[in-house]
Amino acid sequence: MTTAFDPVDLSGTRLPNRIVMAPMTRSRAHGPGQAPTAATAAYYAQRASAGLIVTEGVQPSPVGQGYPDTPGLHSAAQVAAWRSVTDAVHAAGGRIFAQLMHTGRIGHPSLLPDGLVPVGPSPVAAAGKVYTAAGPKEFVTPRELTEDDIARTLEDHVVAARNAVAAGFDGVELHGANGYLAHQFLAPNSNRRTDAWGGSPERRARFAVEMVAAVAGAIGAERTGLRISPGNPLGDIAEPEPEAAYLALLRGLEPVGPAYLHLAETADRALTLELRKRFGGVFILNARTEGRFSGPQELALIEDGTADMLSYGALFLANPDLPRRLRAGGPYNTPDRATYYGGDERGYTDYPALAD
Ligand SMILES: Cc1cc2nc3c(=O)[nH]c(=O)nc-3n(C[C@H](O)[C@H](O)[C@H](O)COP(=O)(O)O)c2cc1C
Repeated sequence: MTTAFDPVDLSGTRLPNRIVMAPMTRSRAHGPGQAPTAATAAYYAQRASAGLIVTEGVQPSPVGQGYPDTPGLHSAAQVAAWRSVTDAVHAAGGRIFAQLMHTGRIGHPSLLPDGLVPVGPSPVAAAGKVYTAAGPKEFVTPRELTEDDIARTLEDHVVAARNAVAAGFDGVELHGANGYLAHQFLAPNSNRRTDAWGGSPERRARFAVEMVAAVAGAIGAERTGLRISPGNPLGDIAEPEPEAAYLALLRGLEPVGPAYLHLAETADRALTLELRKRFGGVFILNARTEGRFSGPQELALIEDGTADMLSYGALFLANPDLPRRLRAGGPYNTPDRATYYGGDERGYTDYPALAD
């Protein structure tokens, strides 16, 4: 029987276990330039015993930034700063993918430089509020992307993916989940387009397919993963019947063959099993857990074949040596929500590992 502590092959790279550190925004790229810091390198290096680390969401372009103090991968200084992070993780024996996260309509002009405004597939504002330096503000109506803008946005992802490789990352995870740009294209309430990028499930899936294909073409499919969250209402997304668009997405990805699909499970398990059956690469599951975060209960999902790998968010944030603790049956440090976003080393690099 396969367990979470057995190795797995990710497109030719041997991962020593099946525990993934899930992508988590920490908003600690303080100062001008939106670059990771020495503390970022220490934080990820502490977690190098993961089979695979996926970084916090990283904006591929200035307009893709939706939150304060998130890092980017679009400037030379950012590439150099990320190099210190990947070197630290590799020196500690780990592997690390950068999550490219373009937040689309989720954001605010006050977070963006040079008079930029958030963009989206259609001029439809998300209901709800965004956190800015000046407190919570209503989401704005995004500027509708033209055909040319879409081509440029895809190119921004390609450049950022090349930058990731130049910075020493083992690959990139493209964010197609949680209400951000690619998800805004997938969902019918945020994508009202009637051109080649909207309307049918296939056309709504096209942006995500082309994003994965373009990045895989540039850095290799073996270094390219995709995260999705069918049915997730975050960011005012409504996908009453997600199957059609996501099955269209998987059909579009078949000739591309990305290394992995990372499912943030929101809909029912039946859809999870359907997606797993239809995806040829490694299937990473962030299991749906009502009212608690993922924990040791989920380990059985490897044993019963539901997934090839499991990702852990909150518990990995608070337990730098999580694979060891899961194997030992605990104990676990408790995540402190007050230090999730922003701040200093507290709640970042000071969670203790188990004593030897
Ligand atoms: C502090 C924090 C930040 C997060 N930021 C991101 C992010 O940048 N990108 C992303 O895809 N998911 C993000 N998530 C979602 C996690 O990847 C994960 O799906 C979620 O925490 C549920 O898994 P868990 O129960 O193991 O915590 C974040 C979660 C937390 C707790």
